Amino acid sequence: MLAMNYRGPQRVRIDHKPLPQIQHPEDAIVRVTRSCICGSDLHLYNGNVPDTRVGETFGHEFVGVVEEVGADVHKIKVGDNVIVPFNIACGRCAFCKQGLYGNCHEANPQATAAGGIFGYSHTTGGYAGGQAEYVRVPYANVGPTVIPEGMDLDDAVMLTDVVPTGYQAAEMGGIQKGDTVVVFGAGPVGIMAARCAWLFGAGRVIVFDKEEYRLEFVRNYAQCEAYNFMSVGDPVVFVKRTTDSLGADVCIDAVGAEAAGSTMQTITGRKLLLQAGSATALHWAINSVKKGGIVSIVGVYGPTDNLVPIGNVVNKGITIRANQASVKRLLPRLIEHVQNGILDPKALITHRIPLEEVSDAYRIFADKLDNCIKPVLIPPSARM
Ligand SMILES: NC(=O)c1ccc[n+]([C@@H]2O[C@H](COP(=O)([O-])OP(=O)(O)OC[C@H]3O[C@@H](n4cnc5c(N)ncnc54)[C@H](O)[C@@H]3O)[C@@H](O)[C@H]2O)c1
Ligand SMILES: [Zn+2]
Ligand SMILES: [Zn+2]
Repeated sequence: MLAMNYRGPQRVRIDHKPLPQIQHPEDAIVRVTRSCICGSDLHLYNGNVPDTRVGETFGHEFVGVVEEVGADVHKIKVGDNVIVPFNIACGRCAFCKQGLYGNCHEANPQATAAGGIFGYSHTTGGYAGGQAEYVRVPYANVGPTVIPEGMDLDDAVMLTDVVPTGYQAAEMGGIQKGDTVVVFGAGPVGIMAARCAWLFGAGRVIVFDKEEYRLEFVRNYAQCEAYNFMSVGDPVVFVKRTTDSLGADVCIDAVGAEAAGSTMQTITGRKLLLQAGSATALHWAINSVKKGGIVSIVGVYGPTDNLVPIGNVVNKGITIRANQASVKRLLPRLIEHVQNGILDPKALITHRIPLEEVSDAYRIFADKLDNCIKPVLIPPSARM
C-alpha cells in the first residue's frame, strides 16, 4: 500500500509498505478515505519529538471504511464509515473510565505521561499512522465511531482532532459569561478554540498570530478580534491595555513548541533543543491572564524541561489546565453541533491533496504557503 514515510527532519516521501494485519482480536483494519496533516505533525517533521524513527508513517487524523475486523470486535462492522479519534484508548483502565481517553494507561504502557496516538513516534506507542491507504486500529470497540448518515467526510475528519481539541481548549478555560478570552495561535486548533469560546459564554475573544491570512480567516470564521503579534509591540502589554490593566480572564495556548516571537526561546527551544520547544506563547498566556485567571494549554511541548515563568503562576494564583483532547468523550456532542450547523469545521480545509503528493503537502503546510490552513490527503481509492 501507499504510505507516508519519514526520512529525517523536513524529509518525508510516499512509499510502498506492507498492508497492516489484524494482530489482536479487538483490532480492525480501516481503508483511509481522508487524512489530515496537523500542527502536531510539524513537531515530528521538524525532528523535535524524541524517538521519531526513520521509516515511520505519521497521521493521527483520519476517517475511513472498515475493511476487516478481529474476532472480538462487535461495535463496528465491515463496510462501516468511521471517525477514528486520534487517541488510542483501551476503554477499561482507570483513566479511560474517567473519560480521560487521551491519558489511557494501557495503550502506551512504556510511558508515564503520554497515552497512545496514531503515527506519533514511539513516545506515544509506536503505532503506524493514517497518512496511508490502510491503518490497523487497535481497541476497535472503543474509539471508532460510525459517521452519521449524510455527514460530509471533510467534516468527519475534522472531528478526529481539530474540533474536539479546540472545544476542549475552551472548556478547560472554565469560561464564565462575559469573559475576555485570548487565544494564542490562529492555526486550525486556535481558530476552533476561538469559535468554541463563544459557545461557553465568552463576551470578547481576541486571537494573536503572525500570519495575516490566518488572522483574516479567524476574524470572519470566529467573529473575533485578531492581531498580528509582530506589529502590536509586546502582546502582553497590548492585552493589559485593552482590559483596564487587569489582563484576560482566560488565555489559551494553541501554539506549542514551534512558537515564534522570542529570540531567546527560539534559540534555546527550536535551534539548540536545550528545552522541549519554544515556550513563547505559554509565557505570553501566563503573563497576560489576570490574577486568579485560567490558562488552558493544548499546544504540544516535548516531554523534557521547559523554561516557564512558574513564579508568575504562583504569585498570580493562576490555574493551569492542560491535556491532550479526550476525543471520544466529546464526540457525541460535537457530532450534534456539526449536524445542527453550530460548527462548520470543513470550512478550515483549504487544500485537498493526493496522498501520493504527501511531501508537497507537508512543505505547503509547514511553510504556510498558498494561504494554507488545513490540508487533507486523499488516497487514490477515495478519488474514484
Ligand atoms: N492537545 C491536543 O490534543 C492537541 C491536538 C491537536 C493539536 N495540538 C497542538 O496544538 C497546536 C496548534 O495546532 P495547529 O494544527 O493549529 O498548528 P499550526 O502550526 O497550524 O498553528 C500554529 C499557529 O501558531 C502561530 N504562532 C507561532 N508563534 C506564535 C506565538 N508566539 N503567538 C501566537 N501565535 C503563534 C503560527 O503562525 C501558526 O499559525 C500545536 O502545538 C499542536 O501540536 C494539540
Ligand atoms: Zn492533530
Ligand atoms: Zn485506557
